[in-house]
Amino acid sequence: MHSYDLLVVGSANADLVIGVERRPAPGETVLGSDLTVHPGGKGANQAAAAARLGASTALLARVGDDAHGQLLLEAQRAAGVDTAGVLVGGAPTGVALITVDPSGDNSIVVSPGANARLTPDDIRAAGSLLAPARVVSAQLEVPLDTVAEVVRTLPAGTRFVLNPSPPAPLPSEVLAACDPLVLNEHEARFILGDSAGDAPEDWARGLLALGPRSVVVTLGAAGALVADGRTDALVRVPSPKVEAVDTTGAGDAFTAALAWRLGLGQDLAAAAAYAVRVGAAAVTRAGAQESFPTAEEVSAL
Ligand code: RIB
Repeated sequence: MHSYDLLVVGSANADLVIGVERRPAPGETVLGSDLTVHPGGKGANQAAAAARLGASTALLARVGDDAHGQLLLEAQRAAGVDTAGVLVGGAPTGVALITVDPSGDNSIVVSPGANARLTPDDIRAAGSLLAPARVVSAQLEVPLDTVAEVVRTLPAGTRFVLNPSPPAPLPSEVLAACDPLVLNEHEARFILGDSAGDAPEDWARGLLALGPRSVVVTLGAAGALVADGRTDALVRVPSPKVEAVDTTGAGDAFTAALAWRLGLGQDLAAAAAYAVRVGAAAVTRAGAQESFPTAEEVSAL
């Protein structure tokens, strides 16, 4: 009996955002816009995105006992996420320092803070959240050991989705559980190393050979490429054309929508076709969680 469409295990960060004309070179200072503070973090972003679309969603994460932690908890609750699994304390809430340039592209430095204190013990203690989820998704702003424990704790029949961001070498037990592994060009090239090749199709085939059951490569404005290891089929999924304002969190919204739709029983290509629309909608507004669309807004795109 599944009582959550999606359980997200991952990070929650306060995003400290400054708009810049261009990023500083080493040793250089540039002036930027006024600072804005937004709820973010790849885990909290995924949970907020899924809940905003209408998925019943829970978040397993750790924040600090501080104002940023409060901001994040309030944002999750406002989006409709079950926050019973959000642990509080142990270190300051994670912070992401983000610059956004006029094209909408961002650069991010994350101080993990409390995210780094989400431990394998915390996962073992959260069995009552893991057991009733159709799909569990994770990213890599929490320790890899913690993600590996999620994989070990997954009940039979629960689907696992991983966005390996920021990228790190993945143990084979984690790779084997991914259905799909969802990653962008940068993450694909990191994981594949020198053997990556140049085309998304090369990355997808190379990644499948490492063990995941399926792979989705996100291609920004060009949409996504899905690769199912059961059939060896590769399918390109185009994205609607939109005016990009801020790409922050668009990948998280994509992954959340994909995971939710897979849990509802859609096949990989159909779920990705929905997810690219969610990602496209998310880049048309500033911020991460504030930019995520409702299901009605996705239909209107
Ligand atoms: O993926 C976007 C997110 O990455 C931001 O919200 C920031 O917190 C970093 O984790």
